Amino acid sequence: MAKLDEVRKVVARKALSRGISATGRGGYGRHVLLCVGANCCDGGDFREVEKRLNKRLSNLQKEGTYVYRTVVGCLNFCRGGPLMVVYPDGVWYHSVTPEVVDRIVDEHLVGGKVIEDHAFAWNPMAETPPANPAGMGGRLTGR
Ligand code: FES
Repeated sequence: MAKLDEVRKVVARKALSRGISATGRGGYGRHVLLCVGANCCDGGDFREVEKRLNKRLSNLQKEGTYVYRTVVGCLNFCRGGPLMVVYPDGVWYHSVTPEVVDRIVDEHLVGGKVIEDHAFAWNPMAETPPANPAGMGGRLTGR
């Protein structure tokens, strides 16, 4: 148990250093996951997509809109990449280029409008927050 408590302290500090809320207040309003894995991207080089996303979300944060970003190697879908998922909206985008990143940021993340020609699935997360995990003092969402 002492080991688990120590690990929890370490990861909680890391979360705070990244702006992830541990109390259910503040933190990020959205989380985007970008898959540039070889199985859905035909082995292409999509560093420009990742760089554009990093730059755009960094600029957005300076303007007060906090979107957490994770680049992953697979979203267990493996078709039509690069793929991007926007949570909690649950909107999945295919064929994401740097230009599509700009549209997702401007039209979806800022404007609240789904990019219809690149969206292929819409599975919003439940509005009901999860129960508080024991000992966390708050829910585990960034909303
Ligand atoms: S490699 Fe992108 S979803 Fe599997």
